[in-house]
Amino acid sequence: MAVAYDKLFRIMESQQMTSTALMRKANISGNIISRLRHNEYVSLETIENICRVFQCRVDAVLEFKFSSEMNIAPSESFLRTANIQNRRYLGNKFKLLKFLRNVVDKNCTAVETVADIFSGTGAVASAFTDKIIITNDLLYSNYLCNLAWFGREQVRLPLLKNLIAKYNQITDPSANYMTDNFADTYFIEADCTKIGFIREDVEEKYKLGVINERERAVLIATLIYAMDKIANTCGHYDAWRHGANFERRLTLPLLNIPEKNNEQNQCFNEDANELVRQIKVDLIYIDPPYNSRQYSDTYHLLENVARWQKPQVHGVARKMDRSNLKSDYCTSKATAAFEDLIQHCDAKYILFSYNNMANKGNARSNARISDEDIFRILNAKGDVEVFSAKYKPFTAGKSDIRGNKERLFLCKVRQRSKI
Ligand SMILES: C[S@@+](CC[C@H](N)C(=O)[O-])C[C@H]1O[C@@H](n2cnc3c(N)ncnc32)[C@H](O)[C@@H]1O
Repeated sequence: MAVAYDKLFRIMESQQMTSTALMRKANISGNIISRLRHNEYVSLETIENICRVFQCRVDAVLEFKFSSEMNIAPSESFLRTANIQNRRYLGNKFKLLKFLRNVVDKNCTAVETVADIFSGTGAVASAFTDKIIITNDLLYSNYLCNLAWFGREQVRLPLLKNLIAKYNQITDPSANYMTDNFADTYFIEADCTKIGFIREDVEEKYKLGVINERERAVLIATLIYAMDKIANTCGHYDAWRHGANFERRLTLPLLNIPEKNNEQNQCFNEDANELVRQIKVDLIYIDPPYNSRQYSDTYHLLENVARWQKPQVHGVARKMDRSNLKSDYCTSKATAAFEDLIQHCDAKYILFSYNNMANKGNARSNARISDEDIFRILNAKGDVEVFSAKYKPFTAGKSDIRGNKERLFLCKVRQRSKI
């Protein structure tokens, strides 16, 4: 038997309550949050405080699971779960979802298809699961995560649970590409070896037809979430901390993915400027990088594991060659790329996220497209309205960013046809 707090985390998610907010409201520590996340026992007083916050009964936040009842191996009942937002990702819009969805609901009509074409973690697409969703990202690691969350192929959750539980119990796998290239950098040697072993096994199972394409994506996404949770970094892979004591060990979570999604959903791994030439939807959401930080640099290790082509890596940060993954939106070509993108959008509405960082951060964090150009380009396509929300971003750098505002430009397209 084991206690499980999945219900609590579902309530928090539905109310968009963060762990920090729960800590404050229920007067509990970060350590308690961690115990809850790992389905470990906590005091009755803690449970009482939590029930007070949500004005609910005990059984609304916890349950006891008997492995025999669930008809699964005992080890599976201890699986930690993870939701779409449980990643450290630059520019992740999860905290803005309410604001974003409100803007759409109040200002757009008859939206049935939504394309999130710089989808990153897929957080924004997750606010539109009542629509047909298209996701897209240049990084294969993000494509796989998006496929896991939104792909249309059905997955077998019991099979995935079983595999994840087994992967969590692996001991002493043999050394592999990850051990040879990354031991004791971002992860300790044993965890590197485990990552390499699991990634190899997933590929083999896929090739043998034991798992389907979306199940493969779910298992790789699971590995990405687990790596992100324990990586010896401050959230990106430009460097690793020397002399860190690696307190946490690799444990795969169970992603709270639906078994089945809308059968018309589509996930792409293309340059957004190429993709817009092929799709026609009601609303296109555009959230490109703002500054010179290339996502392929920041997340090279996750990309390396996702692609699993075992390339040579270089330098202290152990980066692979990323020359074919560079985004124009991080360079002086950003304005031209944006203009081309907008001209080729075939949608009733274009929703564009860009913050007000024009010249507020350091040289790396300054926005690449000026406000003047944004208005010129969007006004040529339709009628533009701007909405803004105060926003504390996840930044990996140290720039002192004050008064940071996330802005949403809504463009109601005048004539719905491509150039
Ligand atoms: C600001 S982030 C998006 C964050 C996302 N909305 C979220 O909530 O997680 C920008 C994303 O655009 C992707 N990207 C950069 N250039 C791209 C391009 N030309 N085409 C498609 N995706 C691109 C990056 O890999 C990154 O994931």
